[in-house]
Amino acid sequence: MSDNILIRPYQPADSIPEITALLHRAYAKPAEQGVRFWASRQDDSVTERRLKKGTSFLAVRDGAIVGTISVYDPDKNSAAEFYRREDVRYFGQFGVDPTLQGTGLGKRLYQTVEDHCQKNNVRFLALDTCENAADLIAMYQRWGFKQVDRVKWEVVDFRSIIMAKELTAPSIPLPEGGGSKHPFPCGEEPALSKAKEDCERKWAGVRSVPPRSE
Ligand SMILES: CC(C)(COP(=O)(O)OP(=O)(O)OC[C@H]1O[C@@H](n2cnc3c(N)ncnc32)[C@H](O)[C@@H]1OP(=O)(O)O)[C@@H](O)C(=O)NCCC(=O)NCCS
Repeated sequence: MSDNILIRPYQPADSIPEITALLHRAYAKPAEQGVRFWASRQDDSVTERRLKKGTSFLAVRDGAIVGTISVYDPDKNSAAEFYRREDVRYFGQFGVDPTLQGTGLGKRLYQTVEDHCQKNNVRFLALDTCENAADLIAMYQRWGFKQVDRVKWEVVDFRSIIMAKELTAPSIPLPEGGGSKHPFPCGEEPALSKAKEDCERKWAGVRSVPPRSE
């Protein structure tokens, strides 16, 4: 359980090397499996830039940083077309200490970002992940995200998918004891369907490329 862990905004006094070390630990397992996200090897200057570029949150237990997530404003220069939209915020640099993975902390960090975006009337919340990271993609799908685009970042050796969730659509409360976790059980929300169709047209005929090993 992650009950004794506080989630709070990043503060300038927080240690950047400690956050870099946490990210390296968190992302070591995907890296061992051949998916080398930038966070598995980035240096402190990159950690700092990515933390300060957006609104960042830390999970802290007994004074130690055990998780982090950052959410960003649209970037009109992004290689990902979807991230250039004014009504989009996207999150990243998302990691939990390996000893706490699977205890619900990642979902709490994510929910902090979603709540922050809801309060700020953000329309779409988006993210990117490796197109071959099946477990992560399945997790984000369970959280209501759908693929809307693909992109190849320069800093990694795999292609990424962009996934998005419409936050302003009415949410449907889950029935007690289970039921569909999908917030739109009657079908896809039109704006995302359109984005997905555009993506499929753009990438028609492009073969999936597995991550290279060095
Ligand atoms: C991704 C990550 C941040 C999630 O944090 P976490 O604390 O492990 O996640 P949670 O315990 O809140 O679980 C989140 C979901 O994943 C599932 N899950 C967690 N660990 C799992 C495991 N070992 N096997 C299968 N499913 C697992 C949970 O059941 C849960 O599903 P649900 O939300 O549908 O109930 C964390 O695992 C991590 O740091 N991974 C390495 C870095 C990474 O991949 N970052 C994301 C890059 S896009």
